[in-house]
Amino acid sequence: MGKDNFYVTTPIYYVNGNPHIGHAYTTILADVLTRYHRLLGVESYFLTGTDEHGSKIQEAAEKSGITPKEQCDITFSRFVELWEKLEITNDDFIRTTEDRHKIVVQKILQDLFDRDLIYKSEYKGWYCLPCERFFLEKDLIDGKLCPECKRPVKELVESNYFFRMSNYQDWLINYIKEHSDFILPAFRANETLGFLRQPLSDLCISRPKFRLSWGIELPFDNDYVCYVWFDALVNYISAIGYLSDEKKFKKWWPASYHLMAKDILTTHTVYWPTMLKAIGLEMPKTIFAHGWWLTDSEKMSKSLGNVVDPMSMSERYGVDAFRYFLLAEMALGQDASFTESGFIQRYNADLANDLGNFLNRVTKFILKQENPVIPKPGEENGDDKEFIKEVLNAVNVMESSIVNMRLDKGIEAVLGAVRAGNRYMEKTAPWKLAKEGNTERLNSVLYNAAEALRIISGLLYPVIPEKANVIRKSLGISDDKIVIEEFKVWGKLNPGLKVFDTGVLFPRIELVEPKVEEKSEHSKPVKESSKVEGVMELISIDDFFKAKLKTAKVLTAEKVKNTEKLLKLSIQIGEETRQIVAGIAQFYPPEDIIGKSIVVVSNLKPAKICGLESNGMLLAAKREGQLKIITVDGDMPSGSSVG
Ligand code: MSP
Repeated sequence: MGKDNFYVTTPIYYVNGNPHIGHAYTTILADVLTRYHRLLGVESYFLTGTDEHGSKIQEAAEKSGITPKEQCDITFSRFVELWEKLEITNDDFIRTTEDRHKIVVQKILQDLFDRDLIYKSEYKGWYCLPCERFFLEKDLIDGKLCPECKRPVKELVESNYFFRMSNYQDWLINYIKEHSDFILPAFRANETLGFLRQPLSDLCISRPKFRLSWGIELPFDNDYVCYVWFDALVNYISAIGYLSDEKKFKKWWPASYHLMAKDILTTHTVYWPTMLKAIGLEMPKTIFAHGWWLTDSEKMSKSLGNVVDPMSMSERYGVDAFRYFLLAEMALGQDASFTESGFIQRYNADLANDLGNFLNRVTKFILKQENPVIPKPGEENGDDKEFIKEVLNAVNVMESSIVNMRLDKGIEAVLGAVRAGNRYMEKTAPWKLAKEGNTERLNSVLYNAAEALRIISGLLYPVIPEKANVIRKSLGISDDKIVIEEFKVWGKLNPGLKVFDTGVLFPRIELVEPKVEEKSEHSKPVKESSKVEGVMELISIDDFFKAKLKTAKVLTAEKVKNTEKLLKLSIQIGEETRQIVAGIAQFYPPEDIIGKSIVVVSNLKPAKICGLESNGMLLAAKREGQLKIITVDGDMPSGSSVG
């Protein structure tokens, strides 16, 4: 490639809904890779942004009764807020509604049109509105459903403009075959080659304005706007100065990595390379498609309504822990399942027990000494050598895991070094050495353990920047410049640095008992130790009757603003009308629950949920991402007792 700079991109995210964990993952991954390259001293540029045109956005705006521009502005700011919260260090954020982008898209369209690489023709096809894509009949599920989102497609016939994508089929096949790192992981390259076994058709790049007006107007026909994907992909070059700042563009193009999940593999490995070829630009070095975050084996997505909110996760458990979990848990390239209990288990094991404990042991021990500073080590013995080897091995593994895009493996190796640190402490038993007055050996052990923590914190810095700095601070390192070269050399930690107690690095999280959404709003976490999986705690009948269960009739129901999960219900219990807030919005549209006879716990203490008073709790059954409200079979007046 002949270019040492590192330019990484994330997909630009649609602004029809709030950011979720999938968006957060790709962006954190890009952030961590960029931070590593910065540590390596490589000049880096990290681009993210929002995809703001197309029918998805127009529809979302219509639904909310606002203009598409307002829809974009509101949602764009949620992405910006989240990236700030998650300590994302992007160098630029591009919005496709910005002039700097629109001008470039129009120039490219005009140029391709002038060179007859874009032409007008009749189009007939099966169109999926939510996915904004035409599909071939053979690809539909049961001949009528979208293969991506499984919703019904519509047959459309209209005049449109086409990009001569088919011209490039043979070239693209050869390019992929000749460049083994162009599409990664390698099995994704095979998927694209499989797709290219069929004749490649030309790409419809326009949408008539009568159907969709929210887009970039075609410069040669103002009855049409540009197809959102043709517009969006251009962001990778418009943001870095293509056709506007030649010097900047030369500096960063071609991109080192376009990161994304497998859902948008074809657009990135077929549309984008052929567009670049037609424009006359070099190919990006690597297009990397990671797997999906799943809930109960379904892809997490706004349209499926099963998303995890990254903002609330990081507020509850801390930003660094959230970043750590996402990167450590997903084997890059494969799918991974997100569950809160999985999160808590890994947090407690890796961060609270292993890393937190190691730091705590080392600093607390040094702080107990008369002179609480990093001691001067003596001669190394066999135990020391073995431990040092293990730590330095983690440096090598991490370095190669960045190059090979297996960050999860790198993190695993660093955690291996942390565990080796805890074993080293046990084996060398500094408390015994202190008792025996063996100061020279004690100093060596404490120095080695602290030096390991310096290296470990440096290796983990891109993943957990804030906590890594806390570790460095507690070792007395005031210099905040971390250089990777310094990880490879043992002994860089200066004896004499004053050690600090910076508190518990990652406080243990108590496991919360799994329960239906609704219940979690009211009840308290249960201590991990008090709950043994598979063993049911027995209660007396008196305990059971403490809960006053009553039948109730739902009078009204509406979604709670700015939340995805909550419905506000007014219910009638006998003579009384009450308000309850229930976490069922993802399972029941408001209109489906009005009139139902449900069962509620009527004597629950009132709780405030999202600022709204909830006076009671409805009962529901929940399993594997499904939720069903418990209803009364047949006629029964509201307020009847249940039990
Ligand atoms: N706007 C297009 C991308 C245009 S890029 C020129 C788009 N946007 S999106 O909002 O749907 O974002 C898709 C991307 O978000 C995925 O490719 C991935 O990076 C991330 N993810 C969204 N859901 C995801 C999961 N459930 N799991 C992992 N990542 C996912 O497509």
